[in-house]
Amino acid sequence: WSFIKRAIWSDQSVQQTLPTRSRFSHKGSHGRGFVIGGSQSMPGSVALTSSAALRAGAGLLTIGTVPEAIPSIAAQLTEATFHAMKGQNGWIQAQELDLSPYDSVVIGMGMGRAEETASITRQVVKSAHCPLLIDADGLYHIQHHKSSLRERSHPTVLTPHPGEMAMLSNQTISSVLDHPISISKTFAMEYGVYLVLKGPFTIITTPDGEQWVNLTGNAGLAKGGSGDALAGVLLTMMMQHETIQHALSNGCYLHGKSADYMVEHQHSDRDLLATDVIHGLIQIFRTLS
Ligand code: APR
Ligand code: MG
Repeated sequence: WSFIKRAIWSDQSVQQTLPTRSRFSHKGSHGRGFVIGGSQSMPGSVALTSSAALRAGAGLLTIGTVPEAIPSIAAQLTEATFHAMKGQNGWIQAQELDLSPYDSVVIGMGMGRAEETASITRQVVKSAHCPLLIDADGLYHIQHHKSSLRERSHPTVLTPHPGEMAMLSNQTISSVLDHPISISKTFAMEYGVYLVLKGPFTIITTPDGEQWVNLTGNAGLAKGGSGDALAGVLLTMMMQHETIQHALSNGCYLHGKSADYMVEHQHSDRDLLATDVIHGLIQIFRTLS
C-alpha cells in the first residue's frame, strides 16, 4: 500500500502534465489518429473508440474498418473519415496499408478472432512507425507473437483487462488479480512495452518498469464498451504528449473522472453507458481549463 500511495496519479499530476491547446494551433497540431477494427457484427466498438478520440481533442481521425460497418458509424460520427478495408465474411482481411500519414494508431476493438484479422494485426505491429496501441482482439492475436513487440522502434501500448493480461502472460486470472503490480512490471520490461492493466484501479507501467496507479472511475464502467472508449481517449493523448506515460496516465484519469462526474450528476452506476462517459468528457475538460 505504501507503493500505491506514492504512485497515485493525482489531480495535481494531471494539472502539471496535460498540454493546453495553443490559440495558434491547427488541426495538424492535435494529431491525426487511425482506428483499425470493427467487423460486420461489431461495428459499435470502433464507433466508441473514435468518438472518444474526437471528444478528447484529436485533430483528425480516420477509421479503418470493413465496408459493411461504415454506413452505421458514419451516421453517428460526422467528424470522422473512413478507410474502407477489404473484408472477408465480415472481418478485416490482410491487405496493404499505408500508415505513414498517422501520428498514432490503435488496433483491435471489435475486430474478431478470425485468422484473417490475425495477419493484419501482425502486419501493423511491423509497419506502424508511430506509437501503436493494441487492445481487445488485437491482444488475442499477438499472444503468440509477443517477441515481435521487442523489435518495434516506436512506442507500443497494450491495454489488457485482467483476463487479457492472464492470456498474455500465461498466468491464471487469480494470480493477475493477486499480483497485478509485479506481473505488469515483469511483462512490460520483458517485451519493452507500455502496459495499462485495467480494472477498478488501473496500473500504468513503462518499458523501464516505472509504475503509476489511476484511481478514478467506478462500477458504472464495468460494462462492454468502456474499454473501447478508453482506447480512444488514450489514442488522442498519445498524439498530444511528449511523454507516453503522461499520456496514458492522463487518459485513464480523464476516462474515470468523466464516469465519476456522470454518476454523481446525471446517471447511476447501473445505467451509465460508454456513450455517457464520452459525453461526460465535456464537463471534465471545462472544469480542468
Ligand atoms: N471501477 C472502476 N473502473 C472500472 C471498473 C470498476 N469497478 N470496472 C471496469 N472499469 C474500467 C476499466 O478500468 C477499463 O478502463 O472500465 C474499462 C473496462 O475495459 P474492458 O474490460 O476492456 O471492457 P470492454 O472491452 O469495454 O468490454 C468488455 O471485453 O473480454 C471482453 O468479451 C468481453 O466484450 C467484453 C469486453
Ligand atoms: Mg476491452
